[in-house]
Amino acid sequence: MGTISKRLLVSDLVTSDKIKQVPSNYIRPISDRPNLQNVVHDSIPLIDLHDLYSPGRSHVIDQIGRACSQYGFFQVKNHRVPESIISNMLQIAREFFKLPEEERLKCYSDDPTKTTRLSTSFNIRSEKVANWRDYLRLHCYPLQDYVHEWPTNPMSFRDHVAEYCMSTRGLALQLLEAISESLGLDKDYINKQLGKHGQHMCMNYYPPCPQPDLTYGLPGHTDPNAITILLQDDHVRGLQVLKNGHWVPVDPVPNTFIINIGDQIQVMSNDKYKSAMHRAVVNCDKERISIPTFYCPSLDATMGPAPELVTNDEPAVYNKFAYADYYDTFWERGLEKCLDVFKAA
Ligand code: OGA
Ligand code: NI
Repeated sequence: MGTISKRLLVSDLVTSDKIKQVPSNYIRPISDRPNLQNVVHDSIPLIDLHDLYSPGRSHVIDQIGRACSQYGFFQVKNHRVPESIISNMLQIAREFFKLPEEERLKCYSDDPTKTTRLSTSFNIRSEKVANWRDYLRLHCYPLQDYVHEWPTNPMSFRDHVAEYCMSTRGLALQLLEAISESLGLDKDYINKQLGKHGQHMCMNYYPPCPQPDLTYGLPGHTDPNAITILLQDDHVRGLQVLKNGHWVPVDPVPNTFIINIGDQIQVMSNDKYKSAMHRAVVNCDKERISIPTFYCPSLDATMGPAPELVTNDEPAVYNKFAYADYYDTFWERGLEKCLDVFKAA
């Protein structure tokens, strides 16, 4: 018999109920478990962005292009997001998840259409097995449309998070230019395709888990947006990327970001670039925080392969679609791959 808990959030299950076993609704079938011992130690490219702003630019663009086609993942250093902004962001996230249960629950909602909400797992309305994760999700562009919805506790939440959002948006725009160029497109090509643009942020909180081999923080998935900029805790492992059929752990490197291509860049590139599968695993003794920034099209933007990348030899892999339809499909399918739904016949 599994424990039936009335707790909404997994963090409170761990701290208040002091559970020793994973409740049955979090247990994956045997064929779908993390196999924590079975990983391959490889690494994803680390790209120095310093020369992106100098005559060495074309060399950096080449590295980015190669990383996007071979891995769909890379890390960046010298990204111009100040260290103080990063450490304030991580600190605020830690403080938020340490707030008393009733204070955190003021932001709780399981409705994926809400623009500011604390929730748990992925989509508890549609999924069969729950994930060992709580998360606070915020929309952050245009900032003035959303900032009034954000938490005010911790007191400096809005200031620090807004600063972080603006700074990572700058980085996202630089990367989108570089990626456009690396595909042989005008440097503002992707920027223009994203319509009015969107930016969401997620603060993921993965509590320690008594049986990490039975469940996931987040199971394997690709991100539905254009590009993701992930900040992770300095010391705790958890992210894994699928490469050539093997899961590769991505060790945290202080003051770097992990960048991954989302589904929309795979679509625009007509499958030249890869939206790579990745997942988060949990561990017995340490909580972990990760903070992805999802840079995305606005819901009214029309997505499809770039006409310059469609030829007789390489016909369009995807039909045109509205990003709103894609985004709805993503939340409904519970992290199942959605790209296939939008493929050309
Ligand atoms: C995500 C994600 C990975 C992590 O939130 O989409 O992939 O390490 N997170 O938390
Ligand atoms: Ni992801």
